[in-house]
Amino acid sequence: MKGESMVERERFRPERCVMVIFGASGDLTQRKLAPALYNLAREGLLPDRTVLLGYGRTEMTDAAFRRRLRESVSRFSRTQPIVEGAWEALAGRIFYQQGAYDEAEGYRRLQRRLRQLDRKFDTGGNRVFYLAIPPSVVVPILDNLSAAHSLDRRPRCDEEGACYLRAVFEKPFGHDLDSARRLDNEIERLLAESQVFRMDHYLGKETVQNISVLRFANSIFENVWSAQCVRYIRVTVAEMLGMEGRGSYFDPVGILRDILQNHVLQLLTLVTMEPPASLAPDAIRDEKVKVLRCLRRLEGDEVRRSAVRGQYGRGMLDGREVPAYREEEGVAHDSNTETFVGLRTYIDNWRWAGVPIYLCAGKRLAATLTEVAVEFKEVPGILFGAMEGVELKPNRLKLRIQPDEGVSLRFASKVPGLGLELKNVEMDFPYGSAFPAASPEAYERLLLDVIAGNSALFARRDEVELAWEFATSILEAWEQQPAPDFPNYAPGTWGPIPPERFFSPEAVYSDVLSPRADL
Ligand code: BG6
Repeated sequence: MKGESMVERERFRPERCVMVIFGASGDLTQRKLAPALYNLAREGLLPDRTVLLGYGRTEMTDAAFRRRLRESVSRFSRTQPIVEGAWEALAGRIFYQQGAYDEAEGYRRLQRRLRQLDRKFDTGGNRVFYLAIPPSVVVPILDNLSAAHSLDRRPRCDEEGACYLRAVFEKPFGHDLDSARRLDNEIERLLAESQVFRMDHYLGKETVQNISVLRFANSIFENVWSAQCVRYIRVTVAEMLGMEGRGSYFDPVGILRDILQNHVLQLLTLVTMEPPASLAPDAIRDEKVKVLRCLRRLEGDEVRRSAVRGQYGRGMLDGREVPAYREEEGVAHDSNTETFVGLRTYIDNWRWAGVPIYLCAGKRLAATLTEVAVEFKEVPGILFGAMEGVELKPNRLKLRIQPDEGVSLRFASKVPGLGLELKNVEMDFPYGSAFPAASPEAYERLLLDVIAGNSALFARRDEVELAWEFATSILEAWEQQPAPDFPNYAPGTWGPIPPERFFSPEAVYSDVLSPRADL
C-alpha cells in the first residue's frame, strides 16, 4: 500500500508549460494568481521553462503587464519584501497578448504567439488555459480556442512525445443544476474530463487537506466516526465581511450558490466520506460523490422547516456602522438575495443515518471563522452525568479551518481540589505554534497541482452536478415561497435564528424566525 501512494506522488510531477490566463487584468489574477506563481518561483517549485501569457481586452505591452503583476505581488504576496532575483527570473517569462474574447482573429494571434513561446522557451507544447473570467464568456473562449486549433483532446506534441493540455475553470461553475450541466456538456465536447480542473480554492487550504490526514493517518477516529457515537456535524463558513465592492457579482448569486454549494459541501464530503481505496484523485472523488448521492435533498415544504435564509440590515460591527446589504454598492435596493443560509439535513447512508448535519454560511456575522464541529453523544445520566449542579457538555472535536487554524477536543475534567467539581476543558492543537513555517496559499498548491496533472483537489463533473442538485432544490422552493421579510439579522450576530434554536433536530426553522425589531 505504501508503495502505491509513493507511485501516486511520483506520477504527478510539475512539468514545463505555457500558462495562458484569460482575465489577465482581473481581480483574481492580481490578488491570487500572480502572488501564487511568484511564491512558487521563489521557492524553486515552478519548472524553469514555465511561461505565463496573459490574454485580455486591455491594450498592454509585455513590460506594462509585468509592472502590473509586480505591483500585485508587492501588495498581495504572503511573503514580503519581493526577492528581486526570483521576481526577475519569473518576469523574464511573463508576456501579454491583447485580444477580445469573441473575435477569431485574437485567437489566431494567440496561437501564433504560443508557437513562438514554445520554440523560444522549449515548453514542449504543454498548455494550461486558466479561465479567470465570468461564466458568460467561458463557452465563447473554448469555441474560439478550438477554432484556432489551440484546444485538443489529444494535443499534438513535440518530437519528444507526450505533451499535455489542461483547462482550469473558476467558480461560479454554473448558476444551478441545468446551467452547470449545459456548461459541462459544452466542455465535454472539446475536452476530456482528465483535462478539466474545476477550482474550489478551499480544497487547497492546508487545514482542508489535513481533514483526510487527521481521519486516515490516525487510528483513534475511525471507530467513533459514525452515527453510533456522533450526535451532529456542523460546517460553518462565517464572515464578518460584507460585499467589499463585490455587490454586483453577489446580488444575482446569493450565499447558497456562492459558498454553500461549493466550499461548505466540499468540507462536508471530506469529513463524512468513507476511507478511499487509495490516494489517487478518482479514488478520493468517488468517495465524495457517494456522500453527495446520499445527502438528503430538501424539497418543497421541507425547505421551510429545515432551511433558513437571512439578509443583514444596517448596524454596528466592530465599533463602526456598516450599511445594510440593500445599501451596498451594486445591490438592488429591494433585493431579496440571501446573505445567510443555515440548514439541517441528513446523510442517508449506513454510517450517518439519523445524524443531523447543520450547514451554515453567512456574511456580516459575529466572527470570521470556518470550522467543522463534530459533536459526540452525551454520556448516560449516571455517575457524573447524574450529579446535581454538574453541567457536562458532550465531547466535541473542532476542526478549525481558518483563521485560528487548529484542532481542538472538548472533554470534562476534574477541577483540582478536595471536592468533586467538573469542568469542560479544551485540548488544543494550534497549527501556528506546532508548525511555525508559514503555510503556502491555497492557490500555490492548486496551481502546482494543475501543472503536475493532479486533480485530487479539484471537483469532478459528477461532484459539481450533485452539489448543484442539492442546492437547486432549495433555490426552487425559495422561489415558490413568499418573499422573505428582509432584512432579518443585524451585523455582528449569528444570523436570523438564535443558535440554541438552530441546533435542535426537531426545530421548525420557519417558526423560530421572526424579523428583528431593531432592524
Ligand atoms: C469565495 C466567495 O469563493 O470565497 C467569497 O466568492 C468568499 O464570497 C470567499 O468571501 C471566502 O474565501 P476565503 O479563502 O477568504 O475563506
